[in-house]
Amino acid sequence: MAFPKLLVLGTGGTIAGAARSATGKSYGAGEVAIDAIVSEVARLGLDVELVAKTIARIGSQDIGWDQWDALHREIAAAQGDDSIAGIIVTHGTDTAEETAYLLDLTLAAGKPVVLVGAMRPTDAVGSDGMRNFANAVQVARDDRAAHRGVMVVMGDAVFAAPDVRKAATSNINAFRGFPRGPIALATPSSIDWFAPPHREGSSARFAWPEALPRVAILTAGAGMDAKPVEALLGIGCKGIVIAGMGQGNAPRVVLDALADAVRSGVPVVRSTRVDEGLVDRNVEVDDDANGFVASRALGPAKARMLLMMLIASGITDQERIQANFDRP
Ligand code: SIN
Repeated sequence: MAFPKLLVLGTGGTIAGAARSATGKSYGAGEVAIDAIVSEVARLGLDVELVAKTIARIGSQDIGWDQWDALHREIAAAQGDDSIAGIIVTHGTDTAEETAYLLDLTLAAGKPVVLVGAMRPTDAVGSDGMRNFANAVQVARDDRAAHRGVMVVMGDAVFAAPDVRKAATSNINAFRGFPRGPIALATPSSIDWFAPPHREGSSARFAWPEALPRVAILTAGAGMDAKPVEALLGIGCKGIVIAGMGQGNAPRVVLDALADAVRSGVPVVRSTRVDEGLVDRNVEVDDDANGFVASRALGPAKARMLLMMLIASGITDQERIQANFDRP
């Protein structure tokens, strides 16, 4: 019997990291080639055919347009290839939420697309990479994973791209989902899905753009003034996400400077520097008067990706931007 075929796209990260010391206390991300990782997985007897391709061998803090463009192209082609059952992307954990969400916004939902990473390098004691990869294989080959968009598999849990975020720096259970928690639990021997597929429609929400605009995240802090806003406008930012205090608030002078930015044609989205929770319109800040958009359930990193996609798609008015944040 032929085994299901999965495409594995390697980008680097700790799942491809080598420490050359059992403690793994200092290591290089992306040092192990994806072919070597796939050969290792092949020894696990998962009854699957894996086809590996290298996109990059970098730490995910360096990921950007070139790698996203290549990933989008390869995944879109694989989605149209009847011989491929699902796609796995090995990725650093630091920016997995950004890549997963960007791909989720721009790819069709039918075939499973799974990002997987690790918190400990391949050769460190208690390395989680092989187990996470085995879990990702189970998800990518599961018919019930279809129509759920892009997912992230970490620590025996499956997260939907709009929900997922990294919430711990070194713990192997570093990922959380908000507003939904995990959408499934996955181990090398079982998968339990908690709900039917959530993705609305199967076609991509946005066409892949020719480029992404410069959009910055500005973290609010007590006692700050308006200079950082002026600096961002000075370097040509096309949009600003404020990682605000509490429900997306900031000092009065900063809000005033951001309202000026909106008046000059630069959209501003209010998100929060707090770990979790909604940022709703007009609660403490008058969004109607200032022209701001409330990020709702999206944290700053994903709010930036959505704002970049909207601006790249020619959507720059407050009402339509808000409508998109209301439906992340
Ligand atoms: C990275 O994001 O590339 C480094 C950290 C990690 O993968 O856990």
